[in-house]
Amino acid sequence: MNHPPLIGDRFGRRFPYLRLSVTDVCNFRCSYCLPDGYQKAHNDEFITVAETGRLVKAFAGLGTWKIRLTGGEPTVRPDFVSLAETVSSTPGIRRVAFTTNGYKLPERARSYYASGLRAINISIDSLDPRRFHEITGHNRLFEVVEGVNAALNVGFESVKINTVLLKGLNDDELDGFLAFVESRPVSLRFIELMQTGDNLSYFRKHHIPAAVIRSKLAERGWALQERAEGAGPAVEYAHPAYAGRIGLIAPYAKDFCNSCNRLRVSSRGALHLCLFGSGGYDLRPLLQADDQIEELKDKILSLMQFKRSSHFLHEGDTGVRRHLASIGG
Ligand code: 5AD
Ligand code: SF4
Repeated sequence: MNHPPLIGDRFGRRFPYLRLSVTDVCNFRCSYCLPDGYQKAHNDEFITVAETGRLVKAFAGLGTWKIRLTGGEPTVRPDFVSLAETVSSTPGIRRVAFTTNGYKLPERARSYYASGLRAINISIDSLDPRRFHEITGHNRLFEVVEGVNAALNVGFESVKINTVLLKGLNDDELDGFLAFVESRPVSLRFIELMQTGDNLSYFRKHHIPAAVIRSKLAERGWALQERAEGAGPAVEYAHPAYAGRIGLIAPYAKDFCNSCNRLRVSSRGALHLCLFGSGGYDLRPLLQADDQIEELKDKILSLMQFKRSSHFLHEGDTGVRRHLASIGG
């Protein structure tokens, strides 16, 4: 198939990558995200398999080739596997990834892979079982680590670990995390805690810049890797004695937004041009029939003019995002 010209914005950025949230629901209670657990806030139906198929077809027609299914926790949907099959069988989509908290991953990894998923990001904020429990509300560290092993065993081409860096909760665990990637070919990425509408006092207490890890990595012989063409905003470090890599995602760093390569669609079918932008643009009316694809593509293209050069987090502007479970981080 010929690749269509890749969708871009006014600043010359290109968007090969769509993050699609398929639900707001999450079964964990991460202390920075949903400390009281998921609270049902609306009765809207989440994007259906048929709507997802049309949406992804339109994006593929605009040159998008990588899709990530995210949430909330995407795997709480009973039809998650059929969503994944629909996305991965769409012509032009070359890579389908998902983000998960690792719930029941040991027994489910094989069916996820069989549905066409090839890249998996698993959240692990602590390797200490008690702390993991404290942070997520679930005593499931062992299960999640077994899930990482299972993902590697069943053949996932990319296995990444997301670790939100939290002052006083996991910032003393660097050596444990390094040991975790010594023999596992995974990329473990420290994500700087982001301020959201709901977590302000938590943010003040636990935020530390990802940059504090940088000097510690250098002291331990880790080397910054050249950025791959089209790579997103993570920077990666490697070490000859380790199978895995360490990444840093620092949304407050200068120029973070210059390498933005992604768009987002919420679980209710709204296009979000930025994780921290204000409200989304409703695409759902154009997801109702197969013959709307051209109109849908035109709509998406016309909305691109509203994508701003960067977020405004520095000014404490979190957009309207109360927490990231509604848009998938
Ligand atoms: N700051 C940083 N990362 C967050 N995530 C959720 N909320 C936040 C936040 N406030 C990320 C976590 C989790 C992923 C699903 O979303 O990395 O692993
Ligand atoms: Fe759930 Fe992810 Fe939020 Fe944790 S960070 S509560 S796993 S949506």
